[in-house]
Amino acid sequence: MPEYILVAVAWPYVNGEPHLGHVAGNCLPADIFARYHRLVGNHVLMVSGSDMHGTPTALRALQEGVRPEVVAERFHRVHSENYSRLGIAFDLYTTTATENHRRVAQDIFSRLLENGHVFEDTMRMPWCERESRFLSDRFVEGTCPYCRNPGARGDQCDSCGRTLDAADLIDIRCKADGTTPAFRDTKHFFLKLSNFQKSLEEWVERQEHWRPNVRNATLSMLRERLPDRAITRDLDYGVPVPLRGYETKRIYVWFEALIGYLSASMEWSQLQGDPDAWKKWWHNPEARSFYFMGKDNIIFHTIIWPSTLLGYGGAPALNLPYDVPANEFLNVESRKFSKSQSFAVWLPDYLSRYDPDPLRYYLSAVMPETSDSDFTWAGFVSRNNDELVGTFGNFVHRVLSLIARNFDGKVPEPGELDEADRAAVDACATALAEASKNLSARRFRAGLAATMDLAQIGNRYVDQKAPWQTIKNDRQRTATTLWVGMNIVSTLRTICYPFVPFAAERIHQLLAEKGDVLSAGWRRTLPEAGRKLPQPAALFKKLEPSVADEELARLYGTATPART
Ligand code: MF3
Ligand code: ZN
Repeated sequence: MPEYILVAVAWPYVNGEPHLGHVAGNCLPADIFARYHRLVGNHVLMVSGSDMHGTPTALRALQEGVRPEVVAERFHRVHSENYSRLGIAFDLYTTTATENHRRVAQDIFSRLLENGHVFEDTMRMPWCERESRFLSDRFVEGTCPYCRNPGARGDQCDSCGRTLDAADLIDIRCKADGTTPAFRDTKHFFLKLSNFQKSLEEWVERQEHWRPNVRNATLSMLRERLPDRAITRDLDYGVPVPLRGYETKRIYVWFEALIGYLSASMEWSQLQGDPDAWKKWWHNPEARSFYFMGKDNIIFHTIIWPSTLLGYGGAPALNLPYDVPANEFLNVESRKFSKSQSFAVWLPDYLSRYDPDPLRYYLSAVMPETSDSDFTWAGFVSRNNDELVGTFGNFVHRVLSLIARNFDGKVPEPGELDEADRAAVDACATALAEASKNLSARRFRAGLAATMDLAQIGNRYVDQKAPWQTIKNDRQRTATTLWVGMNIVSTLRTICYPFVPFAAERIHQLLAEKGDVLSAGWRRTLPEAGRKLPQPAALFKKLEPSVADEELARLYGTATPART
C-alpha cells in the first residue's frame, strides 16, 4: 500500500539571496527524501514557501527605506527560481503573503482562542523613543539571561538555542539606532503553552526515532517547563489579528509561518482542483509528516507547532509531526556562514557558473546530519573530479562506450554467469536495499555512500573482466561482462536519482528507457538484449583545480573579516 508522506520544508526568510547553508540544512535533504519516496511509489506532498513576515526582512526594509513587502517579494522570486534550478522539486513553493494563508492562520488563531489556549494580557514591551514604536524580536539585541551571550536577540539566543522574550534581555538596545529602549505596557495575546506540557511530554517521550539532538533539545525545554508565549506583536506588516481593537497588531511571525505547512497543503489542493486532497496527509492517522530544518528551528517544530495542532483539536485531529530531522550547521571554509558579514556561498552565484548536480552531490556527501560540517571549495572540486567524474561518470561511460564500440550500441545478450558476474549482479540488489534503508531513515550521507560503493564495485568488476581485452578473442564473455555492467548502470540510475536527478535522467535516456526515472520506479529495470542505445555522452564535467582558488578569492573578496 502506498504511504502518504508529507515533506515539510522550513520556510526561508527572504531578506537576501539563498545561501548553501539553507540548501544543505533544509531543501536538499527534504528533496532527496521526497524524490526517494516518489520513486518508491508513495504519495508525497512537499510544500514550503517564503517566510514573508520575518523580522530579518523587515530590518533590511528599514535600512533600504522601503516596505517589508518590497524586500520580501524581491527575494521570494530569487529563492523560488533558484530552488527550482537546483532541482528542488516542491509540489508547491508559495509564500505566507497569500490570502489563503491569512485565512488559515486567522482561523487557527480564533480556534485556539475559542478553545481556551490563547488569552489576552498586558505585557511590557521595549519602546523606541526615537522611532516612536514598539520593538520586538530581532528589533532588539542584548545579553542572554541564560548563557550570557552578548548578541542574543529579542526572539531567540543563537548561542544556547533558547527562545526568549525581549523583556528577558540584559542591556537591551534597539537594533536600528542603538538606543536603550524604554518599556511600555501593551496588550497582547498569549499561547498557553502550559496547557500542553503534559501531552507534549508524553508524546516526545515516545518519539524514539527522532535524532538525539532533536529529542534532547525538546526534552530539555520541557524540563524547564513551558512559559506562556505572546503570539501577537505591535507591527504594521504581517497577518492581522482577527479581532476588533487589534488593528495595529499582527500575529507573531513564528506562530503564523508554521501554519504555512497546513495552508500550503490546502493551497496545493485547490490548485489540483481537489480542495479536500490535503486531508489525506493531515487527517489520515497512517500518514507521516517529516519536517526539515536547521537546528535553530527545532523548538518551534517540536513544541510550538505541535501545541498549535493539539490546541486546534477537532475530529479528526490534525497530524502531529512524525519526525523533525533537523540538521546541524554547514560552515564554509571552517567559518560560520554569515549573511551580515556577507560570508557565504550564494546559490544564484553558484548556479551562474556550475551545474546543479555537483553541488547536490557534494552537499549530500558533507551534509551536517549529526554534527556541524564544512563546505570547502577544494573539497567541492576534488569530490567532483575524483568521485562524480572519476568513479561514477567514468564507470557509466566505460560500459556504454564499450557497447557502442563493440556491439553496435545494442545491449548484448549474456551467456552463463560466473561467480564474479553473479556477485556484481547481487551487489545491485544490495545497493538498492542499503540505499532504501538509509534514505527512509533520513540517513542521507549513508544513502549516498551506498550509491558510490556500487559505482566503485562496478569499476572494479570491469577492471577485473577487462572487456577491452576479452573482445579480441571471446565475444560471448565480453557480452556477458557488459550485460552485467548494464545492470549496474541501470541500478545506479535509480539510486542516484534522489541525489543527482539531472544525471539520473541522462542515464535513463542513455539506456533508451521510456518516460522518466520516476516512471521506472525504485527497482532494477533490465534493458532487454538487442535494444539499441543512443551515442554515449559524459555525465559530468571535470573542474579545473584553479576553480577552488578563484572561488576562494571571490569568497574573501566580498566578505568582511571574521570577528574574533
Ligand atoms: N524563517 C525561519 C528561518 O529561516 C523558518 C520558519 S519555518 C516555519 O529560520 F515553519 F515557521 F515557517
Ligand atoms: Zn543563551
